[in-house]
Amino acid sequence: MPRGMRAAATVELDAIRQNVAALRRRAGGRPLMAVVKSDAYGHGMVPAARAALEGGASWLGTAVPEEAFGLRAAGVTAPVLCWLWTPGGPFRTAVQNDVDISVSARWALDEVVDAAREAGRPARVHLKADTGLGRNGCMPADWPELVAAVRAAEAEGSVRAVGVWSHFAAADEPGHPSIAAQLTAFRDAVAAAEAAGLRPELRHLANSPATLLLPESHFDMVRTGIAVYGISPVPDEGGPADFGLRPAMTLSAALANVKEAPAGHGVSYGHTYRTPGSTTLGLVPLGYADGIPRHASSAGPVLVGGKLRTVAGRVAMDQFVVDLGGDLPVVGDEAVLFGPGDRGEPTAEEWARAAGTIAYEIVTRIGVRVPRRYAGRGPAASGEVGS
Ligand SMILES: Cc1ncc(COP(=O)(O)O)c(C=O)c1O
Repeated sequence: MPRGMRAAATVELDAIRQNVAALRRRAGGRPLMAVVKSDAYGHGMVPAARAALEGGASWLGTAVPEEAFGLRAAGVTAPVLCWLWTPGGPFRTAVQNDVDISVSARWALDEVVDAAREAGRPARVHLKADTGLGRNGCMPADWPELVAAVRAAEAEGSVRAVGVWSHFAAADEPGHPSIAAQLTAFRDAVAAAEAAGLRPELRHLANSPATLLLPESHFDMVRTGIAVYGISPVPDEGGPADFGLRPAMTLSAALANVKEAPAGHGVSYGHTYRTPGSTTLGLVPLGYADGIPRHASSAGPVLVGGKLRTVAGRVAMDQFVVDLGGDLPVVGDEAVLFGPGDRGEPTAEEWARAAGTIAYEIVTRIGVRVPRRYAGRGPAASGEVGS
């Protein structure tokens, strides 16, 4: 932690590159879409996207259009699929920026067709089927009408149906009955699209857990998010190393204060923690405004001075305290909240367990006040700090 830095999320770009390569091997060499929505799950969208492409990804996936346009503005030219749209798009900007558009409903198709006519070129669309997630996607009952309308739009030259796709509800729960049902529903949706005359070249369904555990779901491309960042989507089945993955992000901070405290001293709001004996307290300058879950109060693990400590009392907006048990590190010494685990530091998965959530949320919610630093070889990011 360089002097003058309060905290940093250090992202190993090599880990991202290698994770993508490992996932592609797992997917039998199929093309891989790296999901870089939500600032690449908190890792920094553009550097992470570049590293993923260098590691062998050929597609990028975003939820919202601002993310897709951000990639284009940064000069990223790889194919991008964007899937969460609201009326008004902006679909014309998407067509002009070569952003592939997910279409789940007739209203979206109608707007996309208008945008393509205005732009004077066909829109590339991926038709999303609700095969059982019950979130976005077209219901089976509405699918025949949607695919017929897409076919008509293809015939007039305003859209090109590049893909048919869907998303799993419980691929992270091996044996969950929804998995087989969704595979069947997906095959049915593809067959209906083909029967209507569409020729989608990309059928894609597999998220990270399905990429790791369900080869029959790989179809023409896998669409991985969390595993690209080295976090296991199925921690009960195996940790990152079991799948050849390495967590890319390390979150650390400089201790902002170290002090001695007597027995029975109340710590942080509400005094939910009292020192059990005379001890030393370290102040970690990160709080829930930075994405540290308040639910991890008196539970989150932190490495300080080579030993694992636990959050003492409540996580506040900007800071929390660890009980150092009488050790006296120097102010400014590093507190490591999570990382790959090499140095004995906790992992994001351990924070997730402490907070009663999933590791996806731990990394994704690290806030904008925490600067991202990039470690690793190669051109993915300017400002890399070296390996
Ligand atoms: C539609 C869609 N596809 C793929 C993903 C990637 O999922 P995962 O991070 O589990 O790989 C997500 C993430 O939520 C998603 O919303």
